[in-house]
Amino acid sequence: MSELALQILRFDSLPSTNLEAARRAIDGAAEGLCVVASEQTAGRGRLHRLWVSPKGAGLYFSIVLRPRIPQSSWPLIPLTAALAVHDVLLEGYSLKADIKWPNDILSSNRKLCGILAETVDTTIGRALVLGIGINLTSSAFPPELHEIATSVQLETGKVPGLENVLQNLLLAFQQRYEMLQSLRGGEEILLEWSVRSSYASGKRIRVVNGQAVLEGMTRGLESDGALRVETDKGEIEIVRAGDVTELRPLDVSRD
Ligand code: BTN
Repeated sequence: MSELALQILRFDSLPSTNLEAARRAIDGAAEGLCVVASEQTAGRGRLHRLWVSPKGAGLYFSIVLRPRIPQSSWPLIPLTAALAVHDVLLEGYSLKADIKWPNDILSSNRKLCGILAETVDTTIGRALVLGIGINLTSSAFPPELHEIATSVQLETGKVPGLENVLQNLLLAFQQRYEMLQSLRGGEEILLEWSVRSSYASGKRIRVVNGQAVLEGMTRGLESDGALRVETDKGEIEIVRAGDVTELRPLDVSRD
């Protein structure tokens, strides 16, 4: 199986690396094009949110992918990326992070990294743009987000070199992406993801998806990465999109 061949394009400032990568994918860019920017003026987050991206305070990049696996398995790609980020933080910076479904990287229960996967129709078929944003220093986000956001600097006391994180991450993602596209790769990725995520099983959560709100206990992942949630009525709901928050465990004691 051929390796993901990366070609890095660097920018001082862009509205969004995802937008730039999508534009180039539409024009036929090959798999592996990686767009990196020192700052983003209109960084995009999941669920139409903004991703604050001040200069030099975080790592902001997007990769064009043209996966060979069936499109029904593409939701596993951001999970694969989360796995790569998790392992690079642990191995390179001794930072033990958690993965919140589907692909938020948390430390001290605060968000350290976000991943945004967007599909785009191009002249040579459908592509996926995988965007990753990591808060490296405490100036990566405004003070009002201190309750919910963190950075590698805040968690480790050190500012990691941006180039170092990028190179480690690209290598780790290359390897995991290859694993995903190999025989039974999806199962392996799901297993590895579940070992690293406290959200995989036995956590009481709320999922908000537009007007729909669901509460229950997590019960593992489906083969396409969807989250199984057992409601208080004992029914299993399959969640494919939404914003997850942790809830305190139900108090089942009676006095
Ligand atoms: C999230 O909301 O958790 C996802 C955030 C993804 C942010 C990254 S930064 C690089 C890439 N370009 C964007 O505009 N967004 C992603």
